[in-house]
Amino acid sequence: MINWLIVKWHSYQFKLALKQGKFKKAQSLLQEIERSGVKLSWLEKLYQQQLKTEQSLSFYRQEVGHLSQRLQDHTFKPNLEFINYIHKCFNLKESDRFLFQCTGIESQIFTNLELALVEYLETEINKVPEQICCQEIAQAVKDLEGLKQGIDPQYNHRLSSHIYLLKYFLDNIYCSYLAWFLIYQQNLLLKNLKILDLAAGPGTVIFGLALLLSSTKGFFPLQETQIIYYSLEQQADLQYRGLQFWRKYIESLSTPINAYCRFNTINLFDYENYAVKLPIHFFDFIVISHCFFYQSQQRYDSHQIYRQIFERNLVENGYALLIIQGRKLFNMYNVPPSENLDEEGWLIQSFLEELGLKLEWYKYLTSTGKRTPKKQGFAQFAKDNLPPQPHLNVLRKKYLQQKYPSNYAIDDYVILAKKA
Ligand SMILES: C[S@@+](CC[C@H](N)C(=O)[O-])C[C@H]1O[C@@H](n2cnc3c(N)ncnc32)[C@H](O)[C@@H]1O
Repeated sequence: MINWLIVKWHSYQFKLALKQGKFKKAQSLLQEIERSGVKLSWLEKLYQQQLKTEQSLSFYRQEVGHLSQRLQDHTFKPNLEFINYIHKCFNLKESDRFLFQCTGIESQIFTNLELALVEYLETEINKVPEQICCQEIAQAVKDLEGLKQGIDPQYNHRLSSHIYLLKYFLDNIYCSYLAWFLIYQQNLLLKNLKILDLAAGPGTVIFGLALLLSSTKGFFPLQETQIIYYSLEQQADLQYRGLQFWRKYIESLSTPINAYCRFNTINLFDYENYAVKLPIHFFDFIVISHCFFYQSQQRYDSHQIYRQIFERNLVENGYALLIIQGRKLFNMYNVPPSENLDEEGWLIQSFLEELGLKLEWYKYLTSTGKRTPKKQGFAQFAKDNLPPQPHLNVLRKKYLQQKYPSNYAIDDYVILAKKA
């Protein structure tokens, strides 16, 4: 009886508290009533419901707060000192809005890389029996040099991967390093980053990123970085050598990056069979570096596939990063290289339309400072102005009978785009 009276009294007080706008009191009275176990009146039920809604609203507000905090912290904030350092090392000169001349290097990082690569290649090439080594090298070189005549190489000879590493790897890493730097400079480099690299070769793109991150040492900390790297490539041997060298060199750095790598050996044209294996709307960046075909039918087919991959596998606001040699871009449209910016803009636009993309920005990175190739005297220009590769030079002389000294050279468009 007394209990019943107390509950009635609480109910009356509860109504009064609500009328007077004393909501805290109303809430604690409601708790008393709930504890008594009696059936709630319609007003008490309504208020109970309102409190629950407010609670979940405040929970979601808190979550939104946490998420936006995380969004603010989710990229590597551009550090002015580091940016100036890289501009100085690489001697980056912005001749116009779309062109960077680049004649320098971060020498400590790249010298160590070069030394490690030379040691690795020597060891691996020495494993090939001497009597067939020259012949194997000649076959691999012939295949790769198809590029000069507009023929897409097969990369399928016994020493293709070695020769690729010997001839192109360092220059391509140099370019990929700078491409990631431009992305970092724009505050777009995520700390938790998922990358899909198409026609990845030995994983040039992740090497460039790993080296860029390792050169941030002393400028800002790299805590909480996590990279998921997914490579699609047709030659298992290129992937194998890349992984072997990654383990030998990158993982031995004093600040190795936290990367999970997955290497899928597939033929890009076999899309129907591997499409299901690619996680949907998952990748923050899909990269194609130097895999745009010369032969027009192959190029058309590959662009249709690239288009579908961007559409299905990029996250909502993800980026396509395209790296293509200047000469190749002009060749693809049968246009002679020129300094005309309108023409260049048209080429980039047409290229992106074929891939179902829209432009964010692009930069042409060049050693000479010009889009049109030097007619004569490039070797002398390189010798006088470009960073040397003295250690690799020894191997190139020995295995490729190269007559001129090796230098880092670059002639690539770096294009950042989103789904159209
Ligand atoms: C010029 S390399 C570029 C490698 C790497 N992305 C880089 O920037 O150093 C071209 C790569 O495309 C690969 N490739 C060519 N055709 C392919 C195909 N049909 N499927 C998968 N990969 C292919 C080659 O095996 C080679 O590794």
